[in-house]
Amino acid sequence: MKAAVCLGYGAPEKISVMDVPTPKIGKKDVLIKVMASSVNSGDVRVRGLIADPITRTALRMVLGVTKPRKPILGVALAGEVVSVGSDVSLFKVGDRVYAMTGMRFGGHGQYASLSEKSCMALKPQSASYEEAAVLPFGGTTAIHFLNKAGIKSGHDVMIYGASGAVGSSAVQVAKYLGATVTAVCSGRHAEKMVEIGAADVIDYKTDQFKAHTKQYDIIFDAVGKIKKGDVEKMLKSGGNFISVAGYGVASERKAFLNLLNQMYEEGQLKAVIDRTFALEDIVAAHTYVDLGVKTGNVAITINHD
Ligand SMILES: NC(=O)c1ccc[n+]([C@@H]2O[C@H](COP(=O)([O-])OP(=O)(O)OC[C@H]3O[C@@H](n4cnc5c(N)ncnc54)[C@H](OP(=O)(O)O)[C@@H]3O)[C@@H](O)[C@H]2O)c1
Repeated sequence: MKAAVCLGYGAPEKISVMDVPTPKIGKKDVLIKVMASSVNSGDVRVRGLIADPITRTALRMVLGVTKPRKPILGVALAGEVVSVGSDVSLFKVGDRVYAMTGMRFGGHGQYASLSEKSCMALKPQSASYEEAAVLPFGGTTAIHFLNKAGIKSGHDVMIYGASGAVGSSAVQVAKYLGATVTAVCSGRHAEKMVEIGAADVIDYKTDQFKAHTKQYDIIFDAVGKIKKGDVEKMLKSGGNFISVAGYGVASERKAFLNLLNQMYEEGQLKAVIDRTFALEDIVAAHTYVDLGVKTGNVAITINHD
């Protein structure tokens, strides 16, 4: 099969599209014909080993010392189940699924093998494969952190960094759970934020943000760029600050995908796709995500011709 293989840590050019063996499946695994994936901040972080020096050493231990031990990156995918292991009961051949592959990676190949127990579910029927493939990364992260912060219907919630993959999901998840959402992002994303449900938009690049006086039950930093102290005066008494940086790692649960399905089918979740690249253009996709300026997500189409 064709796959994008990361041959070492560093620049996007470390990735090459080549022929590799199709993954084998175990008794509890399914083989997925991958139709679409995404390039996320998680993928570029692994490829570039982007972290402070101490974390970088720890990452090498976990991911591989000189290059990723799992060289086909891609933490999210959407595709069709084409074979199942003898003990699989949750999925059958022909199911159209979407998944977080997590530490198994492997979304950037024509086929991927995943345990039936992994964070995988039938994809929303009305979503294209590209739309489905961009939902899990930001969506599961947003649900994890908003739950952890104790989100409740009626809450006033500020999403800082609302224009990224996690942020654009968080705006929609928080609204769905009954919150009134203020999105903080640069001005160029304002229209999109209103389109996906923000009641109010603040441009963090102007004095608007520092001068803001409204108070919130939850402030979620979805890009990991601010500290609690920066926004403490905007928290209601008993309000919670939470961030993607320094507040643990998001869990990957089937229940989160089920919630995303429900939202999508009810028309309450949009897949925010900035650009779509073919697998063959994976270097260009990584180069774009490296800029840290995408609106929502970058999708990857995987051809099987
Ligand atoms: N803890 C976990 O388990 C976990 C899980 C997933 C992700 N993460 C982390 O979450 C972070 C966000 O991931 P992502 O994929 O959503 O990122 P992303 O999509 O790459 O974020 C890009 C967006 O952030 C905006 N942005 C950049 N700098 C900003 C700033 N200073 N203030 C506000 N907005 C800013 C950019 O727009 P402008 O440039 O126009 O502002 C752009 O729209 C990453 O650091 C990732 O590692 C953590």
